[in-house]
Amino acid sequence: MSQLSVKHLLGIKYLNEDDLHLIFETADHFKEVINRKIKKVPTLRDVTIANLFFENSTRTKLSFELAEKRLSADVINFSAAQSSVKKGETLIDTVNNILAMKVDMIVMRHPNPGAASFLSKNVDACIINAGDGTHEHPSQALLDTFSIREKFGEVAGKKIVIVGDILHSRVALSNIFALKKLGAEIKLCGPKSLLPKHIESLGVTIEMDLKKALQWCDAANMLRVQNERMDKSYFPSIREYTQLYGLGLPLLKSLNKEIVILHPGPINRGVEISSEVADSDQAIILDQVENGVAIRMAIIYLLASKIMTPSV
Ligand code: CP
Repeated sequence: MSQLSVKHLLGIKYLNEDDLHLIFETADHFKEVINRKIKKVPTLRDVTIANLFFENSTRTKLSFELAEKRLSADVINFSAAQSSVKKGETLIDTVNNILAMKVDMIVMRHPNPGAASFLSKNVDACIINAGDGTHEHPSQALLDTFSIREKFGEVAGKKIVIVGDILHSRVALSNIFALKKLGAEIKLCGPKSLLPKHIESLGVTIEMDLKKALQWCDAANMLRVQNERMDKSYFPSIREYTQLYGLGLPLLKSLNKEIVILHPGPINRGVEISSEVADSDQAIILDQVENGVAIRMAIIYLLASKIMTPSV
């Protein structure tokens, strides 16, 4: 049986190309399962998973929980706001107490970059990173690239532009790693202040002009401006940001080709993307959300099979 090369999902950086293809092929199977009348399989009846969210989430939290339940795992949920973290308990103590209840896997979202990696080195459980600060969001990049593969048949050779607040985006970094490993060409587009210095060293190019970037690409991934991660102003006003980097229908229609539009959510309608574009036939935003469940089922299934057959 094929297995992942890793014991945890900490970031796309640590996966190889074979891992990505294995996750996609497994997700193909689970996508078929979740579209059946009976959407549940008994595969992980003996596995218990804790979802630890130290940061807000709608899609990732619900998608992981649904993926776990579709696989028949036992699931417990932890929200930092209602926990003893508020009384000063450390992350390691919190997780070790949860593991003492015979939990096998931890899915964690945390505001600190590197939190999932830190946990993997300090507790005895399989860790899945559901987003760690501005670092990585591996399951999001997997569902984004899976959706691109679904739309075009393959990712290799496709031209993808990632638009917006690259500096604060874990989605951008994980997408860059995934798309590069799969052989796509990547351009980044956004205000200079929101593009990390030396980002070209990751094998991407920069295009400051949104229309030129869109004219070049097969698909555009529109990112939200992450105000919650900003300690200062990075552009004069939201109105000016939208004028230069927002995608509206007139701009989309002015291109001499039809491109595919992705967005990881949550959307700020009227800022980085207009409602007309977000709700258009060219947008695959809700397909991404549907694919997220299949991708997360694949991730959990493949990592759980390593726990169950540790010698392989
Ligand atoms: N895309 C994403 O991570 O969304 P949530 O913050 O709602 O999980």
